[in-house]
Amino acid sequence: MKAAVKLDRDNVIGATDRRLFGAFIEHLGRCIYGGIFEPGHPQADARGFRKDVLSMVRELSPTIMRYPGGNFVSGYNWEDGVGPVADRPRRLDLAWMSTEPNTFGTNEFIDWCRAADIEPMLAVNLGTRGGDAARNLVEYCNHPGGTAWSDLRRKHGWDKPHDVKFWCLGNEMDGWWQMEMKTATEYGRIATEAAKMMKWVDPTIELAACGSSGRTMPTFGAWEDTVLEHTFDHVEWISLHTYLNNYANDAPAFLASPDLMDDFIEEVVAIADAVAARRRSSKRIMLSFDEWNVWYRTRRNRQERVKPDWPVAPEILEEPYNMLDALTFGGACISLINHADRVKAACLAQLVNAIAPIMTQTGGPAWRQTIFWPFADFSNLGRGNVLRATVDSPTYAASYFDPRGTVDAYYPLPTVPYLKLAAVHDEKTLTLFCLNRNLQEPLTVEVDTKGFAGLKVTSAHQLCDKDLTALNTRDQPDRIKPAPLKDVDVKGTNLRATLAPASWNVVRLG
Ligand code: AHR
Repeated sequence: MKAAVKLDRDNVIGATDRRLFGAFIEHLGRCIYGGIFEPGHPQADARGFRKDVLSMVRELSPTIMRYPGGNFVSGYNWEDGVGPVADRPRRLDLAWMSTEPNTFGTNEFIDWCRAADIEPMLAVNLGTRGGDAARNLVEYCNHPGGTAWSDLRRKHGWDKPHDVKFWCLGNEMDGWWQMEMKTATEYGRIATEAAKMMKWVDPTIELAACGSSGRTMPTFGAWEDTVLEHTFDHVEWISLHTYLNNYANDAPAFLASPDLMDDFIEEVVAIADAVAARRRSSKRIMLSFDEWNVWYRTRRNRQERVKPDWPVAPEILEEPYNMLDALTFGGACISLINHADRVKAACLAQLVNAIAPIMTQTGGPAWRQTIFWPFADFSNLGRGNVLRATVDSPTYAASYFDPRGTVDAYYPLPTVPYLKLAAVHDEKTLTLFCLNRNLQEPLTVEVDTKGFAGLKVTSAHQLCDKDLTALNTRDQPDRIKPAPLKDVDVKGTNLRATLAPASWNVVRLG
């Protein structure tokens, strides 16, 4: 099977923003406690940060980190997580039916981000709380001193402001599962008033309004329109969330599902620009895809989502990712790259243990899940100008199951190209990310490049395994890992590569 690709150095979609390569840590299960933070662990530093996890995070290179939720933030009192640890209250967390010990909070998060060289992104609670708590948190974090909240931060041991630039106005406020969910109008009003006050405290911050918690929400579209109608003058961003699934155990459809992310992004861009057009405004709202991943095994099953008796840091949402998941995940990375002109921020949900590329055993080792590898490629090698590729690939038909609440919904995908590709170049290197979605046959890709002289292959690797159910575990942490891609050749301005069936491939030319 063959596919032909045309690339022109001058035909650019846009530059990938540094913030496209973000991730997310929530007070959820063992993401924080037993994940990034485990005082007493042999690998923990003096602050309780696991150094083994930090070193894997550095390999993964996320650039911005969303915190503290997620669903958790809609019931969070940020004041509970600052000040002397011994004085911090234990609370029931109604998002994950856990006990929150509050031994990790905003200041620890900032310190962890600094240790990992990651920009912090904070979400404020617009569920059980509102603009007043939000503006106080901005003052606590970003005001230099001389006021009650900023001096409290200094008293707590953080003399310099945290200077947090990126703030989310709540989380998934359209969802029934949210503490104090809102209609679009209710949320639009509260978000606007919170935004005004937060920016009065610190005019340098950027704000993201909640978009729909998924494209399958019945209110999708109308929600974005109404929310932006209220918030347009006060925000820079609208958020998108997507979790790809294989509930139907249909590998071709699952592999096709990132193409629905393409549609979702383009629909949100259209709605945001329609709101701008109604106002005759040249302002362009950017997209923050601040939750995305594969998630289905531990999603709909209550035992996997919550444990009885309000435990601290229960083992929930610990999704084991196999080879097939890594391929679909790679497709999602390609979708994000190919919309670099409008998706300027994105966060993999999440980072450690809960639906995560990094797993740990509490008191034990850490290891990389299969999805670690495409994310590391995306983040480390995806920086630069994205080229508008012309892809001529054989296609297949699929029907993707994506439930709308309790209603079964199938999306027909009549023409899914076997090859999904993104091309990024910086001054020195042209990088191709290629997913072969053909489960049986290799795919020979011929790439015709324009505007690149003297190209040579500088590196090429693939992620594939005949067993699509194979995964990495504590005892077999390297079962799935990248291997060299050998069948790559360049002649003049043309590249030819043969991609194994069901494979993720990264070719670098310089
Ligand atoms: O990432 C897990 C959860 O998924 C988040 O808390 C929530 O925002 C989404 O529904």
